[in-house]
Amino acid sequence: MSDGQKFYKLVLKLVDKTEELPPLNGTHRRIIDLVEKDASLKEIAEKIEPDLELSATLLRRANSAFYMPRKSIGDIREALSLVGTKQLTGLFLIERVRKAVGSDTEFKKEIWEHSYQAAFYSNLLFNEHFKNTSQTDAYTGGLLHDIGKLIALNFDSESKKDLDDADNLKEKIQPGHLKNDFIKQPLCHPELGAMLAKKWNFPDDLAYAILSHHDLKLGADKPKPISFCAYFSNVLCRFQKIIAPIAPIAPDEEKAQRYYDLIDERALKAFKVSNIAGMKKMSEEIKILFDKNKRALGE
Ligand SMILES: [Fe+2]
Ligand SMILES: [Fe+2]
Repeated sequence: MSDGQKFYKLVLKLVDKTEELPPLNGTHRRIIDLVEKDASLKEIAEKIEPDLELSATLLRRANSAFYMPRKSIGDIREALSLVGTKQLTGLFLIERVRKAVGSDTEFKKEIWEHSYQAAFYSNLLFNEHFKNTSQTDAYTGGLLHDIGKLIALNFDSESKKDLDDADNLKEKIQPGHLKNDFIKQPLCHPELGAMLAKKWNFPDDLAYAILSHHDLKLGADKPKPISFCAYFSNVLCRFQKIIAPIAPIAPDEEKAQRYYDLIDERALKAFKVSNIAGMKKMSEEIKILFDKNKRALGE
């Protein structure tokens, strides 16, 4: 058996051992049925309103800077028309994943925090650069891109050993990953996440976005906007850590240049970044928007 075959066999074993996602709850199921039946916003809003938790989540999304509302949104129907019913199914998926993963450790909290930042960026990038293409849930792509990393934190000791073995094999089959120190362990989290996405019946586009979030070449030949956005949102998060780290760590210009040189050219082109100065500018601007959004939400 080749190293590649051994690698995928191990990842598959880990996926098989991972439990199913908690099912959709009754209200969410009924809402999805309504969305699929193309029900009116009024009908869907009436199902959402009695569910206080869901109403709050939806209003929070609608009022965040992703949609740049001119005034504060307090009405569910208005929030729905702003967010879009398609985003609703993504919102339920996120809730189910959150339940399955938990956020009971500091490391998990840190990854969720990074994921929300990536989701914000991904959504913004989509709105600015792919707005006229068919709608895709770039927010969910950004939020769930590191799902493989999160799930791995729940593994038992036997699975953790398999995970280490899979990482060692990945170093052999894709040595390019070793040349940089930009990916935190586990190295195989994109493959693990993508296979979990298949097991959990995520849309194919989302599974591809998860698979290719560190390396666009791993996904489809022609990456979809959701893949570009998940990839570049993660790139921006990593770039910001190098160029504007939290004090007392000093910015590392040389490392930033090395990192910039590794960015997929198709992504740079898609987001109209032509040099490192442009990258710094974009990175700064998007971070300011994110910080404003966090403040607006009182986080
Ligand atoms: Fe990642
Ligand atoms: Fe990430």
